[in-house]
Amino acid sequence: MGLIEGKVAIVTGSGRGIGAATAKLLAQHGARLVVSDLDETPAGETAAAIRAGGGEAVTFCGDVTQPDFPAAIVQKAAGTYGGLDILVNNAGFTWDSMLHTMTDKQWEVIIGVHLTAPFRMARAAANVMREQAKAEIAAAGQAQPRKIVNISSISAFYGNAGQANYAAAKAGVVGLTRVIAREWGRFNIQANAVSFGWIETRLTADKAQGEAIEVAGEKVALGIPQSGLEVRKQIIALGRPGTPEEAAGPILFLCSPLANYVTGHLLKVDGGR
Ligand SMILES: NC(=O)c1ccc[n+]([C@@H]2O[C@H](COP(=O)([O-])OP(=O)(O)OC[C@H]3O[C@@H](n4cnc5c(N)ncnc54)[C@H](O)[C@@H]3O)[C@@H](O)[C@H]2O)c1
Repeated sequence: MGLIEGKVAIVTGSGRGIGAATAKLLAQHGARLVVSDLDETPAGETAAAIRAGGGEAVTFCGDVTQPDFPAAIVQKAAGTYGGLDILVNNAGFTWDSMLHTMTDKQWEVIIGVHLTAPFRMARAAANVMREQAKAEIAAAGQAQPRKIVNISSISAFYGNAGQANYAAAKAGVVGLTRVIAREWGRFNIQANAVSFGWIETRLTADKAQGEAIEVAGEKVALGIPQSGLEVRKQIIALGRPGTPEEAAGPILFLCSPLANYVTGHLLKVDGGR
């Protein structure tokens, strides 16, 4: 029996990186997954890997920033599996510029994906999670634990040159998390945030590799310049970046019964920065 056997989980941005590793790990521990991403091919690969390992997964693809997306994916989870127990708001990317050259569009797009989308996802999830909890309380006096995990970044707390938009959004999502924890505690829903340091994914790969994402008709280059990486390692106690699998472990913890009395918490996962 897995740690989260039978629980229904949505992980946004689970086609790649931290989200893909999280979806696979939650499934390994018994969760039934809605794998979601902007890109259908990697989302399909994550879901196929879960099914190949004996788990359950369906895909639901689209842009988390579209206003009708949250209700639709929550409906997909509830329609497929009969409920929703775990929501991991992970989808996102960076669009860096120094503050004096950052456009309104850069600001709004990054606030949109990292802050507005998690807010709307939680609001949409409430329709199922809170209602399930109310029914359980009416029937048995107590609701099953349910979980929201929002992904933040150390950029929010130390600042990072070029990331005014991202740092503001990732700080904002921690405030959002704490409000969810306060408002939904009585429904036994735990809401927590995880702030990652340097995890090796497409987001932190060599910018020279030319990975990009298309945003409102514009090509946004992904990755970071690899100069200065050795210096970066020196400020990490463990002396190296983390893997997506190492990032997924603490998310599983927060989604599991091991964390049923942990809520409103910000868990730093940065190798000891
Ligand atoms: N990698 C790091 O070092 C690091 C550090 C701190 C925080 N984070 C955060 O972790 C999360 C995952 O990032 P990652 O490093 O795994 O990057 P990644 O690029 O490997 O994966 C992110 C996934 O999100 C999807 N996505 C992006 N925008 C989307 C949208 N609008 N709608 C739906 N899907 C969308 C992408 O297609 C991609 O598959 C992000 O929120 C990121 O900000 C990452």
